[in-house]
Amino acid sequence: MHPLLNIAQEAAKAAGKSIRYHLERFDAVEIQQKGRNDFVSQVDFEAEQRIIQTIRKYHPDHAILAEETGRHKTNSKFEWIIDPLDGTTNFLHQFPHFAVSIAVTENGKLQHAAIYDPVKDEMFSASRGEGAWLNQTRIRVSEQKELENSLMATGFPYYQFDYADEYLAGFKRFMTETAGIRRAGSAALDLAYVACGRVDGYWEYNLKPWDIAAGALIVQEAGGLVTDFGGGENYLASGNILATNPKLYKHMAQIIGQTAPKNRKN
Ligand code: IPD
Ligand code: CA
Ligand code: CA
Repeated sequence: MHPLLNIAQEAAKAAGKSIRYHLERFDAVEIQQKGRNDFVSQVDFEAEQRIIQTIRKYHPDHAILAEETGRHKTNSKFEWIIDPLDGTTNFLHQFPHFAVSIAVTENGKLQHAAIYDPVKDEMFSASRGEGAWLNQTRIRVSEQKELENSLMATGFPYYQFDYADEYLAGFKRFMTETAGIRRAGSAALDLAYVACGRVDGYWEYNLKPWDIAAGALIVQEAGGLVTDFGGGENYLASGNILATNPKLYKHMAQIIGQTAPKNRKN
């Protein structure tokens, strides 16, 4: 295993341990509201601290972009993109589906990724060119080619509703043309589940780089396709992401092309 992936996994496990500790003592968790329906707890901050401490132990010079503490800039060509707890709303409801997401870029290109589900003890990981893994097992995207037999994952807006109508138009098409849709509440795990074939495709609008950086590489290394809504590679910047197997890509892209807001930045 590449040393940087090893560090990403060590950091993700340290954060996961802290999240599990607080889940077992949930009554003591302190919650703050960032905005309407946008909450953060001391658990998010503590998990982020654990991750940053682990990275700093080995690479004090690397740059970091982390959800709760922002950008820690350096001159390094390496940057770590961190979501310490993806699925905070689930966590705050003790709905056991959330994950730690860590990606490493080199000169802006995704190179390593780890997504850790501390409840199921599942570590999804990938390094560019080395395939994707769930714990010690190699994973691949599904072989499904019929949209009507596909299980889809998505996430929908819950505090900013500017594109609710366009979103619903797309949602209606997928609802009526697939085998079903899941909104499980963690973008990182949605992508990890595409990578291991538990779902056949995933789309979502308006995400942040830390929600999707690790998952995007894991899907690609599992043989899947990941694009923005224009078919390009701008998903980290636009926050609009489509991930699926190569057989379903055209069908999904067509529905998104017909329904997504026209004024989006892809
Ligand atoms: C959220 C989750 C959710 C997605 C949201 C994200 P958070 O991340 O990934 O599935 O729909 O847009 O913000 O806030 O729980 O880290
Ligand atoms: Ca997130
Ligand atoms: Ca988060």
